[in-house]
Amino acid sequence: MLNDNSHSHLPPYIIVTHTGLSEESSFLDIGSGTGKPNVHIAQKFGVKHSVGIEIEKIRYLLSQNNHKVLLQQTLEEGTSINVRNCFFLHGDILQATHLNPFSHIYMFDVGFPTETLHELAIIFNNSISQYLISYNSGLDSVGFNVELIHSLPTFMHGSGERHTCYFYKRTVLDSNIEVDTEPDTVFKEALRVINSGENETLRFVTNKIQEWHDRPKTRSGRGKEMRHRE
Ligand SMILES: C[S@@+](CC[C@H](N)C(=O)[O-])C[C@H]1O[C@@H](n2cnc3c(N)ncnc32)[C@H](O)[C@@H]1O
Repeated sequence: MLNDNSHSHLPPYIIVTHTGLSEESSFLDIGSGTGKPNVHIAQKFGVKHSVGIEIEKIRYLLSQNNHKVLLQQTLEEGTSINVRNCFFLHGDILQATHLNPFSHIYMFDVGFPTETLHELAIIFNNSISQYLISYNSGLDSVGFNVELIHSLPTFMHGSGERHTCYFYKRTVLDSNIEVDTEPDTVFKEALRVINSGENETLRFVTNKIQEWHDRPKTRSGRGKEMRHRE
């Protein structure tokens, strides 16, 4: 279940201890998968925004589906699962020029290629984001304007995977960065929907899932179906 912490890499309270995450923070998960970190952060801390961006369509759709179920529980059954400030985007983070307005950036980046990290460093350095949580050591050496403030071994109960989580703090804010700059185009829709409330978020998420179900099926998909029936 998505609202069960047992499979997440990092207990959310650790993020608070080392980065001062609060209700005023905006949290971005780069490569949000099925959405667990975003949901946990939103539920536990009621942050201003908890946005995930995921390049892989099926994982993104799973995060939308999980979000829909939790929103429905909140709205229809009156449970106190707080996922109202969550939003999941389908896209490539490398299309962003900066990461504003997010104060806290999280990435489970164990498999990210070095070139991707170099590109992310440029995008991060163009932003006002104060904290970066990563599973790679030495991000300063691939160009991020950060210093390491803490590291912590992590263990995933489900798979038994062990990693080390690294907490970084920004060192330099480029003088040409405007602190109150507009959100990057990549995030505008997410922030608009979050700000319009949970009913609008549920309507938006439901439409996205429906669009996927109604999509024109590809020729190859139809072919497979035909072969299956024979
Ligand atoms: C290991 S998963 C992490 C999932 C989730 N954040 C978690 O911690 O449970 C990393 C994800 O990053 C996604 N990813 C890789 N490159 C990306 C990019 N350029 N833009 C957005 N997502 C990306 C992958 O598709 C994958 O789902």
